[in-house]
Amino acid sequence: MNIESLLEQMTLQEKIGQLVQILPSVYDPQTSDTVTGPVAQLMEESGLTEENRFELGSVIGINQAEQALRIQQNYLKHNRLGIPLLFMADIVHGHRTIYPVPLALASMWDISEMELMARQSAIEAAASGLHVTFSPMVDLVRDARWGRVMESTGEDVWLNGEYAKAFVRGYQTDDLTRSDSLAACVKHFAAYGAAEGGRDYNTVDMSDRELREFYLPAYLKAIEAGARLIMTSFNVVDGVPATASTYLLRQILRNEWQFDGVTISDWSSIKELIQHGVAGSLAEAGEKGIKAGVDIDMMSGAYLNHLEQQIEEHVVSIDLVDEAVRRILILKRDLGLFENPYRGIDPELEKRIHLSKEHRDTARRLAEKSCVLLKNDHILPLAESQRIALIGPFATSTDVLGPWAGSGKQEEAITVRDALDEANIEYVFAEGSTVDAEIDWDQAMEVAKQAEVILLALGEASWMSGEAGSRTDIRLPKTQREGLARLATLGKPIVTVLFNGRPLDLRDVVEHSDAVLEAWYPGTEAGRAIHRLLYGHAIPSGKLTISFPYHVGQLPIRYDALPTGRPMTIEGADPRYTSKYLDAPNEALFPFGYGLSYTHFSYSQLTLCEQSKESIWEASVLVTNEGTLDAEEIVQWYVQDPVADVSRPLRQLKGYERVFVKAGSNREVTFRIDASMLMYQHPDGSVKADAGEFILYAGSDSACTLHETFWLKQTVEKEQFDEHINDRSTSTTR
Ligand code: NOJ
Repeated sequence: MNIESLLEQMTLQEKIGQLVQILPSVYDPQTSDTVTGPVAQLMEESGLTEENRFELGSVIGINQAEQALRIQQNYLKHNRLGIPLLFMADIVHGHRTIYPVPLALASMWDISEMELMARQSAIEAAASGLHVTFSPMVDLVRDARWGRVMESTGEDVWLNGEYAKAFVRGYQTDDLTRSDSLAACVKHFAAYGAAEGGRDYNTVDMSDRELREFYLPAYLKAIEAGARLIMTSFNVVDGVPATASTYLLRQILRNEWQFDGVTISDWSSIKELIQHGVAGSLAEAGEKGIKAGVDIDMMSGAYLNHLEQQIEEHVVSIDLVDEAVRRILILKRDLGLFENPYRGIDPELEKRIHLSKEHRDTARRLAEKSCVLLKNDHILPLAESQRIALIGPFATSTDVLGPWAGSGKQEEAITVRDALDEANIEYVFAEGSTVDAEIDWDQAMEVAKQAEVILLALGEASWMSGEAGSRTDIRLPKTQREGLARLATLGKPIVTVLFNGRPLDLRDVVEHSDAVLEAWYPGTEAGRAIHRLLYGHAIPSGKLTISFPYHVGQLPIRYDALPTGRPMTIEGADPRYTSKYLDAPNEALFPFGYGLSYTHFSYSQLTLCEQSKESIWEASVLVTNEGTLDAEEIVQWYVQDPVADVSRPLRQLKGYERVFVKAGSNREVTFRIDASMLMYQHPDGSVKADAGEFILYAGSDSACTLHETFWLKQTVEKEQFDEHINDRSTSTTR
């Protein structure tokens, strides 16, 4: 397909059409749209007419092969130039088979499993006719009040970037023409995760250093991995809405990062420039959007209603429109849509592959790896001979897919109770109660009295997190906390399994429970994964990638905080005048990287050895499995730069390894550090590693204490390092 000659044949209206994204019901009355934002009256305010609707470029929310086929066939009958429609949707953690939510998946600390999840999601979604997924969401998050933390991979800049690449590779493969691949749309550019007060869609304000050092790298990694689209965010950054920010969309994205893919607004975010107070009308909002560099207008009607006139009046240059259309047509071409507009659509395959055994097995294994054991006072794993009382709303709730579950169906999810029945586990059960409702704790108490161990399944309903799911109280619902406290008076061991999308304030849960398993929203195979973990058929290995605060008042909280001038530990200080809360500790209740196993790992013999003249160090540590079960441990490596030109984080994750260690034995784990891991942006904008002292920490979470000091003899500039690496044609660990 010759894109330039196609462009030449297009009328202005046809070009503008390509920049518009609309709902499937415009083409298919049988479709009920998935709506997550404001919808203008489709045939009126949106600018849609009988005449132009077969000129539009893309559709949001396709979920099924027959539907995709119908829509594309009908569309192509009417589209003058035979340019196929592009089908996009939010395939965030699975299409029909639902895997754990991204924050849970991140707790696996397993890049290849993340890639596999994306691969299987793409296979299922492509069979349903999809071409683009609005994933990965790589927003860095530090505030559990924000409901969308569950869609992110956590608070660490480097780990987020590694996951970003894995998502992209899994969705796209290295060949976008493959009929089972999806183009990835990384989002939300930029810094959407830093909303003030954790309230969704709220203001973001930060220094350029903070933006570039912590928030931007994961988007860049996704782009470097080949992500074909990027979505703007709803928030302002430095007073300018991201959707109208030439700094973000032109200077950083196009000039500095050389991104040549498609940009798309978030849902109606062009129109929202009016509410942000930077546009006086929809026309002006559209003008700002296209000038800033937004190619596709998702659901606001600004381009469809006003661009034609703006071009005719020379308010907007036709070059801007041509640029955007060209990028969209190139994407369509690269997806192979001009050769086969029905690419991937396969109702038969769809039936076979959706919820296939292979995908369900993966979903179960990933759910097992995603769960994080937060506490275990010698009660887990359970023995089948123990008589248990199964209590709590999530014992039977199918609300385990999470708030962003694609085409997943709750009725297809396996509950905890289903899985116990399947495994013929005997239990007594307290009937009734949904996640949101008051619970009959009198009945639960009677049932609990008949058992040796109480298995309590608690959590937040999925509507309590996700988009627009911000909360100021991040404890479990009151009735659940009260019930737990009552059950605790029985003096029987309590195992609490938690279903939720955000870090919660778990102080009372930890106090009253003998074991706490954070299961998040585990997806379709929830119950089976939990059963296997509780009974020791699988061993918990997940570790948090987001801090669980002690109290909501600590938020935002991060393990990679900068030091303060008055740390609590400073010698000889008047304790009154140190940096602390009067009513809570400074530390998280469970820090980044935390997670227990059914065995215990100890760390010793940390050594560091510099390779000759290379500014490369080989570190090693001995990891000993002190228990009686073979298990996997996630060994974590952190570095601190104690004296620098700017204040540097107290420690930062630089690497990790998931290792298997046999019971009673040990294993030497090695790690290679190079100068690129020690670099940061200096006040003059240069990126380099300063000569001087560094501290390496090794351990099982971000609060680990085992450390060694090492010295960089000479300052290393980034350019110098990159050249050196290219010369040697090798890749570094990071
Ligand atoms: C709004 C959300 O912010 C975004 O993540 C999503 O992709 C779009 N809606 C489309 O559903």
